[in-house]
Amino acid sequence: MSGYEQSYAAWRADPEAYWARAAQAIDWIRPADKVFDPEMGKFGRWFAGAQCNTCWNCVDRHVQNGRGDQTALIWDSPVTKSVRRYSFAQLLDEVGALAAVMQDQGVTRGDRVIIYMPMVAEAVFAMLACARLGAVHSVVFGGFAAHELSARIDDATPKLVISASCGLENTRIVEYKPLLDQAIADATHKPASCVILQREAHRCEMVTGRDVDMAEAVAQAKEQGRRPDCVPVEATDPLYILYTSGTTGQPKGVVRDNGSHMVALHWAMENHYGTRPGDVFWAASDVGWVVGHSYICYGPLLQGCATVVFEGKPVGCPDAGVFWRVIQDHKVNALFAAPTAFRAIRKEDPQGEQIGKYDLSQFRTLFLAGERSDPDTVKWAQSKLDRPVIDHWWQTETGWAISGNPVGLGAFPIRLGSPGKPMPGYDVQVLDDDGHPVAPGTLGNIVLKLPLPPSCFPTLWNAPERYQSAYFDEFPGYYATSDAGIIDEDGYVFIMARTDDIINVAGHRLSTGAMEEVITSHPDIAECAVVGVADALKGQMPVGFYVTNSGVQPDPERLERELVALVRQEIGPVAAFKTAIEVERLPKTRSGKVLRGTIQKIADDQPWKMPAAIDDPAILQEIKAVLQNRGYAHQPA
Ligand code: COA
Ligand code: AMP
Repeated sequence: MSGYEQSYAAWRADPEAYWARAAQAIDWIRPADKVFDPEMGKFGRWFAGAQCNTCWNCVDRHVQNGRGDQTALIWDSPVTKSVRRYSFAQLLDEVGALAAVMQDQGVTRGDRVIIYMPMVAEAVFAMLACARLGAVHSVVFGGFAAHELSARIDDATPKLVISASCGLENTRIVEYKPLLDQAIADATHKPASCVILQREAHRCEMVTGRDVDMAEAVAQAKEQGRRPDCVPVEATDPLYILYTSGTTGQPKGVVRDNGSHMVALHWAMENHYGTRPGDVFWAASDVGWVVGHSYICYGPLLQGCATVVFEGKPVGCPDAGVFWRVIQDHKVNALFAAPTAFRAIRKEDPQGEQIGKYDLSQFRTLFLAGERSDPDTVKWAQSKLDRPVIDHWWQTETGWAISGNPVGLGAFPIRLGSPGKPMPGYDVQVLDDDGHPVAPGTLGNIVLKLPLPPSCFPTLWNAPERYQSAYFDEFPGYYATSDAGIIDEDGYVFIMARTDDIINVAGHRLSTGAMEEVITSHPDIAECAVVGVADALKGQMPVGFYVTNSGVQPDPERLERELVALVRQEIGPVAAFKTAIEVERLPKTRSGKVLRGTIQKIADDQPWKMPAAIDDPAILQEIKAVLQNRGYAHQPA
């Protein structure tokens, strides 16, 4: 039996009482004046007036409560053939010493710190050390290049950057330090110092007077027995800024608070993921994404679980059995991954032969999110693992599941293709373009009725107007998710597509607008459009269409090479931009809007209608012809 209906009804009946009960799981330095203050911020703030410290709740209190010897963090790195384990007491030593090092660099409450690191344990130490000092971290994913890092440095104006000499992408060494140096050189804002983890795979040059060797400084702080106390912060103070793709090249700095974030994540660990203190939880993501923030770092540790930090890929490290090897070796109880990881594993090991080689007896549940879970992949995982496979839907902006299936409350029956039902806290509705509710089963804009629950972003860093215009103007009284979908008669949510220019490549959220800005910066390019076309492995892949300036000698091969290199250099390898196609003209409406949606439908062989406002219908046939040349759009005209 699922306790879901009862729990959702309890939230509906009295949201403040519901979240006040959930908040009892957190240690507060000072209790809230009000569980919810509707006068604060855009839609109100949770736990206003309370004081707390997120690091205390993730680390110190477990040591104080007798869990010091229990494993807190397991770093498993097949790419360096290393495994390290830290108990909660050892985690406290590491985080405390790093906080002392950061204090030496002048970091105090409210200062920003950028963390640009591969998947090493030190990335999590750095996040927690910031939380300990009341500093605001902004983790930048390692697959972003210097230009993206520099934009984040200028927006967040960090006092300090914490980085590493290199990361490892299977056998490829990614030198982080030259990217960091370039980003700082390009940025207007100059961080006062950089704390650098020197890795054995590749050591980097240090800048005298600016760079601090992390290992040396931490060792010294430990020797001196220095461990700054957890700094009390307001529950409504920012814990972190996480930049995510918007419709333009300028990323959006999603702000997360301290207090309500802890309440929501603890609730989710207990009720959605069904974990208990002492369990082992593994989110096979990266600390640079929201999944990494919520479920590699904060969620598991808040709950007193051990978290796995995995530096590797689901395939090729060394084979498609690595996920099962990690689950066996660390007795993982719950795994959270992107569907694309399972598509990659299935491609290499369609019969799931690797699964049988490992002892998965401790493993209870697989959770999928980050992109649409295609029913085929879910069915494959269900049958090969013989365990519940739970899809759930959320966004960087919310920090935790909007819809899901709460294993801790007792899961309800899974409906393939649906990431479950709305979680307590979320009033999910579907509206047509004029803002009217649609009938169950009808496709429309998915919106969340205000107020949003704990953990949802109170603002965008440095961009309150964009916060309002991007999320709240279109449907007054609601938060616009920019996802289109349906809710069926039984309340199951189905997420079908984004309604904006965001695409989802291998579970990574990317802006086609940002890629277009880079492509049009090429001197030969007059205009372009980037669309996400369906890809069997990565879900979507970006494909660019460009028109050259008049007078440019046509040389599509050269231009494709240059444009691919430019996007990789400016945005980073994560953009996975590999295809740029020359066209004579782009299909547009009479008002000049490029018909990206129609191009995408043609490429994906989806049904499409000739847009009424199209300027010249013949252009769509031209696009279809070039797409067919490149192996897309198979349906005859
Ligand atoms: N640092 C530097 N480069 C990185 C990087 C990082 N942290 N992460 C990815 N890249 C590079 C990759 O090496 C690849 O480079 P290439 O073009 O030279 O091959 C490029 O960025 C694209 O990466 P990706 O799209 O991840 O492709 P992949 O072929 O390396 O791996 C999958 C494919 C499916 C195995 C992988 O994407 C995966 O495991 N995805 C899970 C997604 C995930 O965790 N999402 C988070 C939300 S839950
Ligand atoms: P991000 O902010 O990077 O987590 O990306 C959020 C977006 O990913 C959502 O707006 C959806 O478009 C997509 N997404 C995340 N989880 C799911 C899911 N379970 N099903 C369908 N789409 C999802």
